[in-house]
Amino acid sequence: MKQISKQDIQVQEIKREDFIHLHRYFFESPAEYLNSIGLKFPMPGEAEKFQKKWEQLFSDRDKSGLPIPVLTVLYKDRPMGFHPSTHQIPGESLIMHAHFFNSELRGMGIGTVSYVLAIEKFLTFYGYKEVIFKTPKQNAAPIKIKEKLGLVASGEEVIDWPALVRPLQVTVFRVNLSDIAILKSRVGLV
Ligand SMILES: CC(C)(COP(=O)(O)OP(=O)(O)OC[C@H]1O[C@@H](n2cnc3c(N)ncnc32)[C@H](O)[C@@H]1OP(=O)(O)O)[C@@H](O)C(=O)NCCC(=O)NCCS
Repeated sequence: MKQISKQDIQVQEIKREDFIHLHRYFFESPAEYLNSIGLKFPMPGEAEKFQKKWEQLFSDRDKSGLPIPVLTVLYKDRPMGFHPSTHQIPGESLIMHAHFFNSELRGMGIGTVSYVLAIEKFLTFYGYKEVIFKTPKQNAAPIKIKEKLGLVASGEEVIDWPALVRPLQVTVFRVNLSDIAILKSRVGLV
């Protein structure tokens, strides 16, 4: 039975101590799991490159104060997942993703709420005008979330990013600040 309380769900900019979970998720998850959500199992050497890239990101943030557009999802104050972003065009748009590394907490309704919190944070604190989703049609949970949020698809396309196991058919959704009030009310956040 689903027994989550919305007040227990928070998103916040990734902290250094959260990084271990991000790293383990992408580099220590079973190949079958990663493939099932459309991702390649990493090649030898990629884990070290990822680690170095992130050390640089954290050090740049320490120096510049500019926030990293990757959010940690907390449930009852404990990290359990991430809303990473890619394809950032500062002041314009980014593509948002969702990965809950704590598999026991998937499918309980946390994502439906954390998506809205994360979208709002990217559009306000981070100053992006638009949050874009390119959701593989094969991935049931994130497609279901868009349905639950009442998002209307703006199109379909095939993406062929280096991290993907093969080109994937995706549904595209675009969200901007004018959508936030209705999204929050749909998930009971106002
Ligand atoms: C995607 C993800 C962040 C969603 O968060 P979540 O907390 O599990 O989502 P919710 O529970 O709010 O909603 C998921 C909905 O999809 C449904 N669903 C279908 N297949 C599912 C699956 N394999 N896992 C979880 N939920 C699934 C759930 O039943 C739920 O619908 P319901 O509320 O009508 O029952 C999380 O499931 C996850 O990390 N999945 C693995 C990684 C992934 O697929 N990322 C997306 C890549 S595009």
